[in-house]
Amino acid sequence: MSLKDKINSKCLPNHVAIIMDGNGRWAKCHGKHRLFGHQNGVESVREVTEASVELGIKYLTLYAFSTENWNRPKDEIEGLMHLMIQAIENETPTLMKNNVRFETIGDIEKINQETRDAIDRITEKTKNNDALTLIIALSYSSRWEIEKAVRDIATKVKNNEIEIDDICQVMISNHLCTKNFPDPDLLIRTSGEYRISNFLMWQLSYAELYFTPTFWPDFKKENYYEAILDFQSRERRFGKTSEQINK
Ligand code: IPE
Ligand code: IPE
Ligand code: MG
Repeated sequence: MSLKDKINSKCLPNHVAIIMDGNGRWAKCHGKHRLFGHQNGVESVREVTEASVELGIKYLTLYAFSTENWNRPKDEIEGLMHLMIQAIENETPTLMKNNVRFETIGDIEKINQETRDAIDRITEKTKNNDALTLIIALSYSSRWEIEKAVRDIATKVKNNEIEIDDICQVMISNHLCTKNFPDPDLLIRTSGEYRISNFLMWQLSYAELYFTPTFWPDFKKENYYEAILDFQSRERRFGKTSEQINK
């Protein structure tokens, strides 16, 4: 029996975010180059995307490359960008077939033109799909995003477009890259690391956190179902008491 059968389709997370970590260590365990790990990670992306569509999850955000990852060796960065183009080209027909909309968040201007062109093509092609929104965080970090939001809001105050008193939580959310998406309900991090690594710090305020020792290339549908079942066993209180929630 698959763990999928145990999932309650009435209380699914609306938005799942994943820190896809452990590709390098997975490759090392197999005596291979780090890039081999990244290549195998693409298969896991396919699995969780397909599983999300099958379950009826509406948003899936995948952390693919952080602003800090620009500090990695040049050949690894180039390999990752090339892999991104390849994956986009190979996966576009499947995303179309599965009615998946492709979006990105991050400092995309830092990315080379060829990769950006591929991103623009898939974003445009899938823009009317509405089963699942797949958001790839690329050249993304929370501090970069918050800094940009503060600058944009300050500029509006300076230009007399808004008053200081207009600044509120909704306005801040609306100046983040995620303004069109709801906050994640569940965050998964693979590879046994217990940290956020500059990912969606504002948006994860009330997300349930799930950590697994599994390296990303080994993370398949059953691992995903396990995380969702764990999520379904949690009581989300949002500051209230258990009695208030169960009233
Ligand atoms: C995650 O795997 C992918 C990216 C950060 C691009 P890593 O490359 O971080 O793999 P480890 O953590 O070194 O094993
Ligand atoms: C986080 O993984 C970023 C991505 C998964 C893209 P890292 O491997 O870069 O994180 P740290 O450096 O171990 O915190
Ligand atoms: Mg890592």
